[in-house]
Amino acid sequence: MTAQIIDGKALADALRQSFKARVEALAAKGHKPGLVVILVGEDAASQVYVKNKVNGCLAIGMHSEKITYEATVDQATVLAKIAELNADPNIHGILVQLPLPKHFDEEKVLEAIAADKDVDGFHAENVGALAQGNPRFIPCTPYGVMKMFEKGNVDLSGKEAVVIGRSNIVGKPMALLLINAGATVTVCNSRTKDLAGHTRRADILVAAVGKPKFVTADMVKPGAVVIDVGINRLPDGKLCGDVDFTGCLEVAGQITPVPGGVGPMTITMLLANTIEAAERKAGL
Ligand code: GUN
Repeated sequence: MTAQIIDGKALADALRQSFKARVEALAAKGHKPGLVVILVGEDAASQVYVKNKVNGCLAIGMHSEKITYEATVDQATVLAKIAELNADPNIHGILVQLPLPKHFDEEKVLEAIAADKDVDGFHAENVGALAQGNPRFIPCTPYGVMKMFEKGNVDLSGKEAVVIGRSNIVGKPMALLLINAGATVTVCNSRTKDLAGHTRRADILVAAVGKPKFVTADMVKPGAVVIDVGINRLPDGKLCGDVDFTGCLEVAGQITPVPGGVGPMTITMLLANTIEAAERKAGL
């Protein structure tokens, strides 16, 4: 059996088209959604992500700007900028691109962002709301995965779901969303004993481990929905996910490709969260 490919690019394009009317309606009322992205340092991958985030906003009529700092900037300078943006009525979303340089206290920076402008959903208040099953902002990557399940008519209730990866950005919020949807959730990591024993039971398998082709066909239950969150750069410059796509394609029921799977959905859901923040502020 060859798996059905879940086309994240097509879904992302359709959603972004549908956002345009909401942005226009907000702008007409003087609440044009605005996102500021803060980038500290010169990490090459972060620079690409930030550019794509800003351009994604501009393409659908939102306001967006990038604020960059040298890697040596002191934390107080960034915190002062965040305080200024928290008070700016034209800015609805603030995102600090991670990772930050080593001398930063990441948690302190994320907590400094006003919870109602935290479109990443990383503020403790928003993480708590998600854990309680009443999310205000859902972290963008797992939010995008949930939209893909919705699009693919994947029923999560009562299903065995295995998440490989326990990061605050993907693994943990993904697990919470799956729990909230009624799945039976196991969170593994690269050091889990008998990892394949867990993954072979999974009706839903989400790989967010950051290791190229880590999930091989023998680790996948026939017919499973396999979601590949990984974006790894191979020595030849090509992108590849955490899943051995070619092998798993023959075993899975549905599978996401890399590129063109989860990646385009992440920025799409950042746009969704920023529009949502503007709508809340406008009382819509
Ligand atoms: N770095 C990698 N992914 C993300 C993300 O979703 N948000 C932020 N702020 N930084 C990231």
